[in-house]
Amino acid sequence: MSFKPYARPDVRESDIDAVVDVLKSQFLTTGPKVPELEKQFTALVQAKEAVACSNGTTALHLASLAIGLKPGDKVVVPALTFLATANAVRMCGADVVFCDVDPDTAIMTLENLKAAEEKAGEGIVAIYPVHIGGHCADMKSLSDYARSKGWKIVEDACHALGGTNQAYPVGACAYSDLACFSLHATKSFTSCEGGMVTTNDAQMAERMRILRNHGMLRDEKTGPWAYEMNELGYNHRLSDVHAALAICQLSRLQEVGQRRMEIVQKYREELDGLSPYIKSVSPTENGEPLLHLFQLLIDFDKLGKKRPEVCKALMEKGVGTQVHYIPVANQPYYVELYGEPNLPGAQLFYERVLALPLYSSLSEAEVNEVISAVKDVLL
Ligand SMILES: Cc1ncc(COP(=O)(O)O)c(C=O)c1O
Repeated sequence: MSFKPYARPDVRESDIDAVVDVLKSQFLTTGPKVPELEKQFTALVQAKEAVACSNGTTALHLASLAIGLKPGDKVVVPALTFLATANAVRMCGADVVFCDVDPDTAIMTLENLKAAEEKAGEGIVAIYPVHIGGHCADMKSLSDYARSKGWKIVEDACHALGGTNQAYPVGACAYSDLACFSLHATKSFTSCEGGMVTTNDAQMAERMRILRNHGMLRDEKTGPWAYEMNELGYNHRLSDVHAALAICQLSRLQEVGQRRMEIVQKYREELDGLSPYIKSVSPTENGEPLLHLFQLLIDFDKLGKKRPEVCKALMEKGVGTQVHYIPVANQPYYVELYGEPNLPGAQLFYERVLALPLYSSLSEAEVNEVISAVKDVLL
């Protein structure tokens, strides 16, 4: 029986050919493939601008710089996310206000946001909702509230590429200023490492293009070699090699998305309600997701099992699992800064969650093997 990790990149011959073509060309770093990928992305998510960068973390960093985050500012971030959502705020010297989430979806709701605001007092300038696993937050209600307060909205859409939110593709920024994506190898579509920020604001896009390239501005008046730097920039660029892979991967969006959601459907049919103590993460009603993760919520205590032992037993049966995520607010760095968190929704989600293998090359037989293994181990 083959080992099935929780995520596996779907790399085909056409991807390899696309990368080899770039390696044979003269542009290995930023050549024609990066703008081609950006163009493809704007068409895909129906945003006016797309700015490619080196990963999802630098996408969040560029977005944070684009909204002008600075020390003294506060940003509301759901506690149940990957480290990078909060860390991008800290990279700009601003403070994170950790927000609780719905215990059954890990999504930040309007009620959660209002509770975080009450706790934070003055100084909030932005909110960073996260579409965890690909399940979308209710962007309309969050953005109506945030905009009424004059706050900026940055979507962490690193898990959600290819889905829709209300009537729009995720990344269209109908209810946000910017949306950030990751093309990391565990994601549904990958460039090995890679990221993208989408927006409808041309000025912010231009600023991010400058900041991803050291803050350099061409100075044609002085000469063709000359450049000027007016503010601190970074090397957050994506290479043409990575962009070529992403272009090829995204050309299969429909096919890959459909296969992933077929697997999700089968898992739901077979595993939801196996026992009163096992269910999958509830879909939100905020659009049609293309899921990055299939996550079970298991009441381990009531089931009389321990999560580490369940993971080990599944591993022995060839099934890889993962836990997304330890609440970021629990990390020693953040406890030192802000004290022990009291976020029961995030904690309850974390204590029950377990992701099963979800990738487009998972065969029907392998899906059945996962289902049998889960039944054997949990029941
Ligand atoms: C929710 C979320 N945000 C941001 C990131 C950062 O993306 P990257 O790993 O491409 O830097 C990740 C990565 O896994 C993520 O899961």
